[in-house]
Amino acid sequence: MARLWGSIFILVFFSLVSSLELVSSASEVTSSRSKAIASFQSWVDRVGANHSAFENTAKSSGSTGDLSRKVAEGVIVVDQSGAGHYKTINEAINAVPLHNKYAVTIKVNPGIYIERVMVPKSKWRITLQGSGRDVTKITSRNAAGDTGTTYTTSTFGVSAPYFTARNITFENSSPLQIGGAQQQAVALRTTGDFNAFYGCAFLGQQDTLYDDRGRHYFKESLIVGSVDFIFGDGKSLYQNCELRVLPSSGGSLTAQKRLSFSEDTGYSFVNCKITGSGPSTVYLGRAWGPYSRVVFAYSEFADIINPVGWYNWADPARERTVFYGQYKCFGPGANEASRVGWSVELTDAQAAPFMTLGYIDGGLWVTEE
Ligand SMILES: *[C@@H]1O[C@H](CO)[C@@H](O)[C@H](O)[C@H]1NC(C)=O
Ligand SMILES: *[C@@H]1O[C@H](CO)[C@@H](O)[C@H](O)[C@H]1NC(C)=O
Repeated sequence: MARLWGSIFILVFFSLVSSLELVSSASEVTSSRSKAIASFQSWVDRVGANHSAFENTAKSSGSTGDLSRKVAEGVIVVDQSGAGHYKTINEAINAVPLHNKYAVTIKVNPGIYIERVMVPKSKWRITLQGSGRDVTKITSRNAAGDTGTTYTTSTFGVSAPYFTARNITFENSSPLQIGGAQQQAVALRTTGDFNAFYGCAFLGQQDTLYDDRGRHYFKESLIVGSVDFIFGDGKSLYQNCELRVLPSSGGSLTAQKRLSFSEDTGYSFVNCKITGSGPSTVYLGRAWGPYSRVVFAYSEFADIINPVGWYNWADPARERTVFYGQYKCFGPGANEASRVGWSVELTDAQAAPFMTLGYIDGGLWVTEE
């Protein structure tokens, strides 16, 4: 009951706040924008000191010992010709016991695996090792129009912590029809904390990579898509990755969903390459969440970026609370002269915490830089 009254209070409170916002003057807008920037700066200071709101999740989830660093104790081989333990990736995942005590490596030999795979929450420390992203691919074809929700379209979904994938391609082959509805089609969803991806490819159109929740590291990977193709509320570092844009009308590289001031999430892209062809209409990001946060640093942009850079998702209020920035980016699409007034070129101090593994508390869990 107390909870109910609490919720009613909060509802009333927020309706008051939002009706006040309707009549807010220009100076109030400016002051809430400067509050957003001050809050961002204090968050940067905290991240710089590598504090994290998630810090205790791994410790409190029942693990013992230094499991994240344990060398693989079990290897399962998947081979379509029958030369391994199993012919499908699903059988290999099923063979890992719930609450497995040891790390498991699933080695996937070359082939196109037509499957949909979920790694459940309680199967920790699985490494999926492909034979090279050009030769090992897992693929399916599901759009939100087929399954009912975006979440359920993923070809590969990870809910477990300490999942790693290497040298493998994840694809959702559902096509994009420009102007069509419900075409969200996720190749990979990562909802587990401490997930890392090295040398992988994520192929899709709309909503290719659902970077949903938790701390994630993407290195030397290729992400292909058109609309909102890296999206969700994760806290992730993308290093040396290629984001390849397929033609669409007014798509967006990112749709980060941070929902409140207190949430410690956002996407950082460092040394990445934005490639593709077509008109200069692609946004760097649009504000799926009102506090959306995305930074691009030292990245090269082809001539495909919409000169205004960022989109408020048809909600001007979000311009006061999002944090969108570039730092020393280059290439024809990187020119900031026509960017929206609510995006920034970061200072050295602001950019510094985004550049290192400390941003995702990598010292706690990343075993390979
Ligand atoms: C696996 O990926 C890494 C990049 O993280 C790359 O250096 C390596 O050459 C890849 N190996 C294969 C077999 O593709
Ligand atoms: C936090 O930062 C300090 C100094 O920069 C470093 O020694 C320590 O390993 C970091 N801890 C984590 C968990 O990243």
